[in-house]
Amino acid sequence: MTEVQRPGTIGLTLSGRSRVAGVMGWPVAHSRSPRLHGYWLRIYGIDGAYVPLPVQPVHFAAALRALPMLGFAGVNVTVPHKEAALGVVDRSDPTARRIGAVNTVVVAPDGTLDGRNSDGFGFIENLRAGVPNWSAAAGPAVLLGAGGAARASAVALLDAGAPEIRIVNRTIERAERLSKDIGGPLRIHDWADRTGALVDAALLVNTTTLGMSGQPPLVLALDRLPTGAVVNDIVYSPLQTELLAAAKARGNAVVDGLGMLLHQARPGFAAWFGVEPAVTPELRRFVLEAPG
Ligand code: ATR
Repeated sequence: MTEVQRPGTIGLTLSGRSRVAGVMGWPVAHSRSPRLHGYWLRIYGIDGAYVPLPVQPVHFAAALRALPMLGFAGVNVTVPHKEAALGVVDRSDPTARRIGAVNTVVVAPDGTLDGRNSDGFGFIENLRAGVPNWSAAAGPAVLLGAGGAARASAVALLDAGAPEIRIVNRTIERAERLSKDIGGPLRIHDWADRTGALVDAALLVNTTTLGMSGQPPLVLALDRLPTGAVVNDIVYSPLQTELLAAAKARGNAVVDGLGMLLHQARPGFAAWFGVEPAVTPELRRFVLEAPG
């Protein structure tokens, strides 16, 4: 029998015992998570499914609460529900509470909901995979942006031993709120002074949407950044951003943003399907082939 496969789909045969997980977002059609988890389910031969769950904000709490009743193993939570999820789950781990958001929900055997956040884990694992000798302790880290991605990255960097984190954000109040919520050796820099923040830095991360396809460019002179610093862009569409191209051209080690998406998915997959999945070049290629 010939298996019919269209781009973006993979052949799956489900039984009545399939483990089911998914991603709740609004909209969710652009999410690469179904493709990513679907690849692992197929590679590891798991009787399971990972489905997109388009859930409007007004229905989010009810939809999340319904998961145990529907027999779901859990879900990823994405934009715009990550902060709301923290208030819906029965338990959250300290990392999720510090970040102020949940991206992974696991249905416990007793039907209660565990909220976790693996974005910071994905961020650090991506850096470690991209630059094997990278250490958070090497020196100050500069984070451009103060949104959810910056929060997760800042918490993870502090836990990994970063001696100083410089938050550079256009809206200073948002940087101040982040600093107050997270605590630790955080310093705030004006967006206008973003080049000054680069002096003596060991890591530079763009967590803003600048440089993403369809968004304005990130305008940043790198002259003051040491060439030994690692540069990471959380934007992965395009994969090679102007920031990464400029950093690479002057000799900085660079890490693209796709790996953060791939690595943040590992803990959820392991919890729902019982297998520790690997991030491989084939997986990267498969996820990148996805339209959108
Ligand atoms: P996420 O939760 O994914 O990190 P977000 O909360 O929308 O996304 O945050 C986007 C980040 O990009 C913010 O730091 C935002 O700055 P503000 O806090 O000032 O809004 C930043 N950003 C977006 N557009 C920008 C622009 N044109 N110039 C500078 N920063 C910008």
